[in-house]
Amino acid sequence: MPTRGGRDRRTPDWIAQTRTDVTERELTATTTIARSPSVLQRPSDAGIPPRHDRPWWRDAVIYEVYVRSFADANGDGIGDLAGVRARLPYLRDLGVDAIWFTPWYVSPMADGGYDVADYRAIDPAFGSLAEAEQLIAEALELGIRTIVDIVPNHVSDRHPWFVAALAAGPGSPERDRFWFRPGSGPDGSEPPTGWVSEFRGIPWTRTTDPDGRPGDWYLHLFTAEQPDLNWEHPDVRAEHEAILRFWFDRGAAGVRIDSAALLVKDPGMPEVPEDPAPGGHPIHDRDALHDIYREWRTIADGYPGDRVLVGEVWLADVDRFARYLRPDELHTAFNFDFMTQPWDARRLRASIDSTLAAHGPVDAPATWVLSNHDVTRPVTRYGRQDSSFAFARKRFGAPTDTTLGRRRARAAALLTAALPGSLYIYQGDELGLDEVDVPLDEIQDPMHARSGGVDPGRDGCRVPLPWTGPSAPFGFSPRGATADAWLSQPAHWAELTASRQESDPGSMLNLYRSALRIRRAEPGLGDGPLEWLASPPDILAFARGKDFISITNLSSAATPLPPNGAILLASAEVSEGHLPPDATVWLRPDRDEPTDPARRVPGDDR
Ligand code: NOJ
Ligand code: CA
Repeated sequence: MPTRGGRDRRTPDWIAQTRTDVTERELTATTTIARSPSVLQRPSDAGIPPRHDRPWWRDAVIYEVYVRSFADANGDGIGDLAGVRARLPYLRDLGVDAIWFTPWYVSPMADGGYDVADYRAIDPAFGSLAEAEQLIAEALELGIRTIVDIVPNHVSDRHPWFVAALAAGPGSPERDRFWFRPGSGPDGSEPPTGWVSEFRGIPWTRTTDPDGRPGDWYLHLFTAEQPDLNWEHPDVRAEHEAILRFWFDRGAAGVRIDSAALLVKDPGMPEVPEDPAPGGHPIHDRDALHDIYREWRTIADGYPGDRVLVGEVWLADVDRFARYLRPDELHTAFNFDFMTQPWDARRLRASIDSTLAAHGPVDAPATWVLSNHDVTRPVTRYGRQDSSFAFARKRFGAPTDTTLGRRRARAAALLTAALPGSLYIYQGDELGLDEVDVPLDEIQDPMHARSGGVDPGRDGCRVPLPWTGPSAPFGFSPRGATADAWLSQPAHWAELTASRQESDPGSMLNLYRSALRIRRAEPGLGDGPLEWLASPPDILAFARGKDFISITNLSSAATPLPPNGAILLASAEVSEGHLPPDATVWLRPDRDEPTDPARRVPGDDR
């Protein structure tokens, strides 16, 4: 095995050179970072040197930590905050600007923590509030901000409000914070509406009255353990505003807003129209949502240090999507349109174009997301015949070529890192992990059970990370752990551990590290304009400023590169001036040879 910093035959000289250069710069920057204060009203950016005069979130690289599966410090098989704290240097070396933590609050874990019982306390399996505060401060010392996950659409059925609502009975004020309704049909035995749950099936569950008789139904767009809140109720608004302040006071630099387009419902509870007009759906994307986010923006803007609101907004209509990003609403939102596209140049380009066109008028930066804790890992998805993503199409046993998928995932990593705006990386994608076929008796994700066992669910992308060693738990849990990792890791991950990849200059991990270092150093990258270069239709070629070109080859043949450009980074070996299929290269164009009118990629015969 090559030694750390060594080379193997696959690695061109320029990779090693680039890494050394930027590592030195980074080290200088991190040594000047000041300690953050340990009191409330913490700043979210203590000592992080600004890289430019724009807010940090406009081009940040944000790493998603799914705490349960990141690193387990106490050996109970469940990831925890102590595990994250121990691995912060890994995230600094990767080169991320912020961490988004999926919910770490007290939760019965009916939906992986998105069923919150107490928004102000950490689940004991993960640690304590004091530890979360310490983690936020320690990350800041390494130049990394923290984004917490706020779940405003629903609570856990163990949340005190819902417990009180059930106990108080029909017609009580406690029930007004939720959506309790009488059933339809004889004896109210049918659900109040014909709506469909986001997790399939019926989004209503019938309660039993205190006298033991069947009672009203309550609405839950996800599982029955996640009752939906009534955002018409002043308590619901006030409580969430207080929760935002609670986390901003503790130094959170931002919040990711779960199911952000679902909070508001039509209280008349009409059926979903055949073809709803914009804003006319009883559950999705209702206009009143925007007032809520304007309030939240005022709160965020009241704190120093550029606090950011990130929306989880799944909407097919890009113009409706962009309305959430108006200057007095959310700062950014996940770009799921891009994430769900297949590995197809025309489709990807169309998505990039429509994204940029929708974000421009509201002056919001785009976000680029290849995956998250809900969707199939890119290495697996891009290795399938159908490389697009849709929840409804997830099935067991789809044939997959992970060698092809990994090659494309490398190319996609460079493509997305070069696009204008901010970038999200889901834990383990930097290791090139594949989606795991989780054994049936281990699956916990409710999407699996609610589909009648047809959908494998989302646990395949939530398997605990492999850090080091030849066999499970691959350093996820320490030696002498008292329990196995909560989902079993496949044996072939021995090849993919972080420590193994660190010593392989051609690894996915080192590709990500190089890409993020270059992205940080290149003035043309991050926020700013993109200029498409004329190219054959299966090639995505664009310039970012005068000094940077990215070319992705989605065709089935090697494509010639522009002459005289210096290669900054490539996802696969470039030989004899040709970029192979399913690869991306970053180039520094030759300034002595202006690309105009040759601002074209060879092979463009149009
Ligand atoms: C979106 C989250 O990402 C997902 O994991 C969760 O199941 C739903 N929202 C419901 O909270
Ligand atoms: Ca643990």
